[in-house]
Amino acid sequence: MQDLGGKPVIQRTYEATQETGLFDEVYVVTDSKIIFKEIELNGGKAIMSIKEHDCGTDRIAEAVENMDVDIVVNVQGDEPFTSKSGLEQVLSVFNGPDADKIDLASLMTEMYDWKEISDPNAVKVIVDKDNFALYFSRSPIPYPRDKNAAVQYYKHKGIYAFRKQALLDFYNLPMRSMEAAEKIECIRYLEYGKNIKMAISNTQGIEIDTPEDLVRANKVLKEDKTITVNNKYRNFPMVPKVIFGRGSFDQLTSILAPKRKDKAPFIYLVDDVFKNDEDLINRMNLRFNDKLIFVSAEEEPKTQQVDTIVKNIKGEFTYSPSGIIGIGGGSILDLSKAVAIMLTNKGSASEYQGWDLVKNKAIYHVGIPTISGTGAEVSRTTVLTGPEKKLGINSDFTPFDQVVLDPDLAAGVPTNQWFYTGMDCFIHCVESLNGTFLNEFSKSYGEKAFDLCKEIFLSKHLTEEESRGKLMMASWHGGMSIAYSQVGIAHAMSYGLGYVLGTKHGIGNCIVFNHLDEYYPEGVRLFKEMKAFHNIEIPEGICSKLTDNQMTTMIDIALSLVPLWENALGDDWERIMTRDKLRDLYLKM
Ligand SMILES: [Fe+2]
Repeated sequence: MQDLGGKPVIQRTYEATQETGLFDEVYVVTDSKIIFKEIELNGGKAIMSIKEHDCGTDRIAEAVENMDVDIVVNVQGDEPFTSKSGLEQVLSVFNGPDADKIDLASLMTEMYDWKEISDPNAVKVIVDKDNFALYFSRSPIPYPRDKNAAVQYYKHKGIYAFRKQALLDFYNLPMRSMEAAEKIECIRYLEYGKNIKMAISNTQGIEIDTPEDLVRANKVLKEDKTITVNNKYRNFPMVPKVIFGRGSFDQLTSILAPKRKDKAPFIYLVDDVFKNDEDLINRMNLRFNDKLIFVSAEEEPKTQQVDTIVKNIKGEFTYSPSGIIGIGGGSILDLSKAVAIMLTNKGSASEYQGWDLVKNKAIYHVGIPTISGTGAEVSRTTVLTGPEKKLGINSDFTPFDQVVLDPDLAAGVPTNQWFYTGMDCFIHCVESLNGTFLNEFSKSYGEKAFDLCKEIFLSKHLTEEESRGKLMMASWHGGMSIAYSQVGIAHAMSYGLGYVLGTKHGIGNCIVFNHLDEYYPEGVRLFKEMKAFHNIEIPEGICSKLTDNQMTTMIDIALSLVPLWENALGDDWERIMTRDKLRDLYLKM
């Protein structure tokens, strides 16, 4: 019942075991009413053992006596870091050539540190040439009289897999002296001549036998939290080529020329607000079989939309395109990145929503923003709504190969849209700078973007041209800041609105952020000042007519974005942001 990162150790062990997906049923068998209640209260299955038992295996035997089961795996309650691979290994021996000789299977892991080898809390095991156990002990076995002898020490891990019959047999065997002396239950099976097959698993877990182990486990769990993408510290590619300046768009033709492959077209995905903008279309300078596709940014991009565009391109051209050029706001840029990825990867875009799922390098892709704030031009993700989730394709192949930042392209954006999208950037900064994932890298970008936003949205002295250039750079820096930290509450809740009501990202963020003064007081105060300064109306009451089902889905989608909540509220976020609390917030909007 000791606390491990906000949950009792036993609850963590139960969840870890269930999450492996290897079992038809997972139960906690206990003689403690407190543990029983804790598991039931959290929706798990628990069984109270009736009789008094000397060890866990006997307790399990009693529990399964009348159950229709084939193989029973005993995971010790103090193994919260139980991994799927370890359990898979222990189960796999029942498919091996010597399966019928095996009464039970267990796991061992290599050990090298003499301090650990001589520690009586660590149970050592020695095996024969086929990995059947010879003996278990708290003493170092074998004893290394010859210090140079090449001997591999193994530590026993407290995971057992029994055939049901073997389990019941052992239940009826009385404890003998060696087991009593060492207090290691599997010695009983050896004392009665049973065969224990050991599988090797070198995935490092932490068993919790002592208070020091618990401290160590809490530390590991905390470190794990920051591992949301590939490793402890993020190692991301950046956009390798960027051009900035008013009129830099005219350099596009010369930028693309060396990338043009014979007969392979460039595909332009362009926001359909430019459909009648002949000047812009002429400046694109289309050649040969280049193709121009106008796309509506009315709705957020969907995985199905990506799949259709890819299918059409593949159907129309024999050769894979020379590149994809996205010209528009965040939606068009995200769509372009996704299309470039899906032209070289099989299946549907929905299969790649998540972290590092993309296998093949995308085709050459260029991003040209015409409205600033989302950071899509610099990000490693492409946010898409799929049949099951709203989530990005976050991968090393997602970022653009080339970005063209021409502030003049952002001229003529309607005020509301300019504000909503600009606020996306402002909110990126607030959420990053107030988050628990913040580091100097994120902070340096976030602070710069934050200052630029204040200048752009609250100063009277900027010309429109200056303001456009500054917002373009704020968007870039805001995007860089969140790449190395994370966004927070407004984004999590805005994703919920987007999924259920189709609310666009920028305006959704504004609707939510307007009511988050409890969490981001200074940021929300500034936001309201900016809103008043530009006479912007934010829609109200958009959640008042939701059905119960819609509200449930919205809450589910928002809460599923765990890293965002962890960043905003810390490890304890689930206690702070309950479903009721979240519902109240949505209803205020
Ligand atoms: Fe955003």
